Amino acid sequence: MKNVLHIISSPRTNGSASRTLGNAIEVKLQEAYPEHTITTLDLLKNPFPHLGEEQVDSWFIPAKSRTPEQNAAVQRSDDAIAQLHASDVIIISVPIYNFGIPSALKAYIDHIARGGMTFRYSENGFEGLVKNKKSLYRGGQRFHFFRR
Ligand SMILES: Cc1cc2nc3c(=O)[nH]c(=O)nc-3n(C[C@H](O)[C@H](O)[C@H](O)COP(=O)(O)O)c2cc1C
Repeated sequence: MKNVLHIISSPRTNGSASRTLGNAIEVKLQEAYPEHTITTLDLLKNPFPHLGEEQVDSWFIPAKSRTPEQNAAVQRSDDAIAQLHASDVIIISVPIYNFGIPSALKAYIDHIARGGMTFRYSENGFEGLVKNKKSLYRGGQRFHFFRR
């Protein structure tokens, strides 16, 4: 049994190509591995705020000195990181918007990219700490990982 996290980032719902592709992958996965648990993180319905002073400051302030607002900001980030670490398979439904990713996905990435939690700098340089995950993005180029 594996935990699958499906991150949806298109701001569109009706006629969204990336949602259609992501949902098709979900269906295929569920057919092949009915025992897997799929959690959907729809960044349109549950957006992460653009990083503001509150968020950035709160990550560097000791817990006992934080305001309730700073605690809430840290909690949102901590929860998202815990969800990421708990998943074995990550599907990212992402379109190109203006030569980049939708801002909702960038905001999410800003909340999960925290030193010592999802990356660190070691003597060998930058090191990612979200390890041993299978990932699919932009409609399934890496779908072969999931074939039996
Ligand atoms: C506001 C906007 C900006 C876009 N920018 C680009 C782009 O820079 N490059 C590109 O190849 N396609 C671009 N597209 C096309 C989208 O990537 C394409 O329509 C995609 O299917 C959108 O995904 P969605 O249907 O899941 O929202 C853009 C579409 C929109 C609506």
